[in-house]
Amino acid sequence: MLFSKTTAATTITTLLAAGCAARASAARPRPTSTFSTSVISSTASATSSATSEVVSVAQWATIGVTQYPNLFDPNAVNANEVCSGYSLSGLQTTETGLFGRLSLLKACNVYGYDFDELTLFVEYQSSDRLNVQIQPVDLTDVYVLPDSLVTKPGVETLTLVDSDLVFTYTISPFSFTIIRKSTGEILFSTAGNPLVYENQFIQFNTSLPKGHFITGLGESIHGIQQEPGANKTLYANDAGDPIDGNIYGVHPVYVDQRYDTNTSHGVYVRNSHAQEVLVRDESLTWRLLGGTLDMYFFTGPTVKEVITQYVSTIGLPNLIPYWSLGYHQCRWGYHTSDMLGEVVENFRKFDIPLETIWTDIDYMDSYKDFTTDPHRYPLDKFQALLDTLHANHQHYIPIVDAAIYHPSPLNKSDIYPVFDDGLAADAFLKNPDGSLYIGAVWPGYTVYPDWLAPGTQDWWSKAMVDWHKNVPFDGIWLDMNEVSSFCVGSCGSQNYTQNPVHPPFNVGGPATSFPLGFNITNSTDIPYYNSIWYTYTHTPEPSTTATTTSTSTTVSTNPMNTKAPGKGNINYPPYAINHQQGNHDLAGHAVSPNATHADGTVEYDVHNLWGYGITNATYHALLEVFPDKRPFIVSRSSFPGSGKWTSHWGGDNSADWAYMYFSISQALSFGVFGIPMFGVDVCGFNGNTDMELCNRWMQLGAFFPFYRNHNYLGAIDQEPYVWASVAEATRTVMAIRYEILPYYYTLMYEASKTGFPALRALSWEFPDDKSLASVETQFLVGEAILVTPVLAPLVDYVKGVFPGVPDEVWYDYYTHEPVRAGPGENVTLAAPLGHINVHIRGGYVIPTQKPAYTTTESRKNEWGLTVALDKAGSAKGTLYVDDGESLVVKESLVVDFVATHGSLYTFPRGTYTVCQPLGSITVLGVESKPSVVALGETKISNFTYINNTLSVQNLESLTNAGAWSAPLVFSWE
Ligand SMILES: *[C@@H]1O[C@H](CO)[C@@H](O)[C@H](O)[C@H]1NC(C)=O
Ligand SMILES: *[C@@H]1O[C@H](CO)[C@@H](O)[C@H](O)[C@H]1NC(C)=O
Ligand SMILES: *[C@@H]1O[C@H](CO)[C@@H](O)[C@H](O)[C@H]1NC(C)=O
Repeated sequence: MLFSKTTAATTITTLLAAGCAARASAARPRPTSTFSTSVISSTASATSSATSEVVSVAQWATIGVTQYPNLFDPNAVNANEVCSGYSLSGLQTTETGLFGRLSLLKACNVYGYDFDELTLFVEYQSSDRLNVQIQPVDLTDVYVLPDSLVTKPGVETLTLVDSDLVFTYTISPFSFTIIRKSTGEILFSTAGNPLVYENQFIQFNTSLPKGHFITGLGESIHGIQQEPGANKTLYANDAGDPIDGNIYGVHPVYVDQRYDTNTSHGVYVRNSHAQEVLVRDESLTWRLLGGTLDMYFFTGPTVKEVITQYVSTIGLPNLIPYWSLGYHQCRWGYHTSDMLGEVVENFRKFDIPLETIWTDIDYMDSYKDFTTDPHRYPLDKFQALLDTLHANHQHYIPIVDAAIYHPSPLNKSDIYPVFDDGLAADAFLKNPDGSLYIGAVWPGYTVYPDWLAPGTQDWWSKAMVDWHKNVPFDGIWLDMNEVSSFCVGSCGSQNYTQNPVHPPFNVGGPATSFPLGFNITNSTDIPYYNSIWYTYTHTPEPSTTATTTSTSTTVSTNPMNTKAPGKGNINYPPYAINHQQGNHDLAGHAVSPNATHADGTVEYDVHNLWGYGITNATYHALLEVFPDKRPFIVSRSSFPGSGKWTSHWGGDNSADWAYMYFSISQALSFGVFGIPMFGVDVCGFNGNTDMELCNRWMQLGAFFPFYRNHNYLGAIDQEPYVWASVAEATRTVMAIRYEILPYYYTLMYEASKTGFPALRALSWEFPDDKSLASVETQFLVGEAILVTPVLAPLVDYVKGVFPGVPDEVWYDYYTHEPVRAGPGENVTLAAPLGHINVHIRGGYVIPTQKPAYTTTESRKNEWGLTVALDKAGSAKGTLYVDDGESLVVKESLVVDFVATHGSLYTFPRGTYTVCQPLGSITVLGVESKPSVVALGETKISNFTYINNTLSVQNLESLTNAGAWSAPLVFSWE
């Protein structure tokens, strides 16, 4: 149902009600148009001295120095043309590889000062990993990334390993080439281009075969392939998902899938500096703004193996708690605990499963971490709500921001012990002169935890433990950890007595802020939305937008970006990256590169690790809050190895079809990056969503590991019950998600053991079919489930391929009909609104459990098995079960399933006890109606056979001791 015609007098909330079957409660108070009226006044007693006037950080302090990105500078010097490289000498072999000396042939000093002497180390670390490391002989001015911070892979055996990789080299100029022995292919070669190694610029190139297929190199919003022409800027950045720009996390790794030989390999560059990678027709150029060159080559040879080799090297992902697979609801704009409680109740009323309710910064007292607003989230009410949630087996996750409020010493009522304790622990970043580095974020002037300082972890853990006593959260959402600041440099150093200063928020948006197609499906409502927006446009623009407007500067050189000896020009390095912030200043919307850590490390060297640091610290803090339980964290910024501690969501996307489309490649990339627990803000974060987009997205999101709907302050409501059709579509799809939770959890368990993610690209499962290489509109959940979502408005069909046919058979999830498709055929499937195409692959057994409202309740329900036979009448599968929450799993159960020649066998092993019986078995692809069906010795006369599907129900009495207490044989003939 689409919006009906409304009159201009209708309010937004009643307008919404027109599209909603039975909206449970009265209109939710809408945020008023400016930050100053809606928020400052409501927190009056907390900060009474500030109610009369809202001070903002001066506009000038938000604007960085204009940088002209080297990529777009027509006068930029090409280092490959002016540099000569190095010559190799003193080569010696070792037990595991070789080392030698590289001497500079001729200085070029292009974007920094050349290092004269380098050491080359080549190490065969295991049969599937080769390390090539090049670093200056004199490390005085070089940041060497310590193993204690980011795992440095080492040799796994001291005897020379048998590797499929051959390292060859030329002496002068030095170059190296890596060849795959078994195929003779060149995988990587710097031949023909000099190595450039300067204090603020390292560059190397590899040739690539024409028509290459490269994936990885994140984080960015991009299709699955990094095609020729792609420029990847790797610099952690708080930016609302600009397409192709650098965003929150940094993952310097790529997978090179070679279809002509059907082999794949991976390349990981272990470096924490700002980087740029240029992918071209026949080459790839990598630029690092400091540190050392520390590269790892993974042999594969299958793409699956490349991913598992890489992920197990950087750190296997943590096993998630079972409950985190339930549905999550969030928004910025749950203004009060009452409103939050109302949302929880609404989900129950509309019978839409809600596992976890979240709060954005609304709950905080003036946006200070580890506080609650005394008026909007009074502790007694809030605690009562959390008690009820927990009694109902539901969960709560709050946001925790990266920056810590710096109170004004002149204001006696401005008391913030978290700051005082951090100061006492010496836990904050400094300016180069040793004073506190003070930026500005939501609470006003803020300081930033220094994750390299010795006292920071204990201070952070104590803050979490203490806060949990008041606010019993179940997990933590880490935001703003790139790390973000709304001004350039230490803007509060002189002004912190003026606190609090707040950035103004702008809310709402014009009708054009609705998704594509809204002007057609909701044409009568457009004038109304435009009239509302008119009032909003009279509010001041947020000061931060000034930094994001693009500059049309014609500067062709960067006057500030001079070379400097030693560690170089920290704030304005000679090579300017294409940083996706206005002016491209590295300090734009971030803590400045010259902020200094306790051990003297400058932020320039470790900027990309700030989010990694807070994630590590939070993981260890949660181990103190919940001893023995698996921490659940969702972090915005990430780095190789973050998956050991955290999940990730796709950041501040928009309520647009394009972002739903990109969510698939985002998820697949994060599988490669070792963070399989991934999802995006379903229905879209920025801007207004609409019924059609939200309907499709709630259905797609249900197949991602992390399933959360989240929304921007002031955008229209988008909980799935807001529209009757979305509520219905959501119930339908959640019934599937909750039914296959045992299958999903088994996949997440396997990801934590092997590194191979639950969500899979078609090209990973079917690597020999080149036509599937860049499919980014479909994906697999494990090996057995294929999802083909609608990603565009105003259509009731979708096109998709069925990989592996005619050898493979794919069954419709709902009807159990096998799909008729030819090899490579783009099949048109019916997809009316509310229907998502899901197919089961023949040859697989999917363990299920009868869905309930929460995962805890679902776990108490009877089991089922869906057996999808392949062309030979066989199938296999696995189930993993444990208590779903223990950090160290003491008792677990693995059940293997094998179906062949009319029999299904279950082979349970392990100590974890499952009491629930097996209720049903469904076998797809049974060629003729069986005459005898039996479970063990017991004949079952009450079966159905429709559409080649054999189905038996009500088996409970035959497995009273628990479905997996003993091996079973189910047979049909
Ligand atoms: C600090 O305060 C002074 C006086 O109010 C003002 O002129 C200046 O712009 C402020 N600086 C910043 C960074 O906001
Ligand atoms: C990528 O960089 C090149 C310069 O090497 C530039 O000409 C091109 O426009 C850039 N491409 C994009 C999509 O920005
Ligand atoms: C709706 O908006 C799209 C995109 O802005 C535009 O191309 C189209 O012409 C509009 N259609 C109508 C009926 O206004």
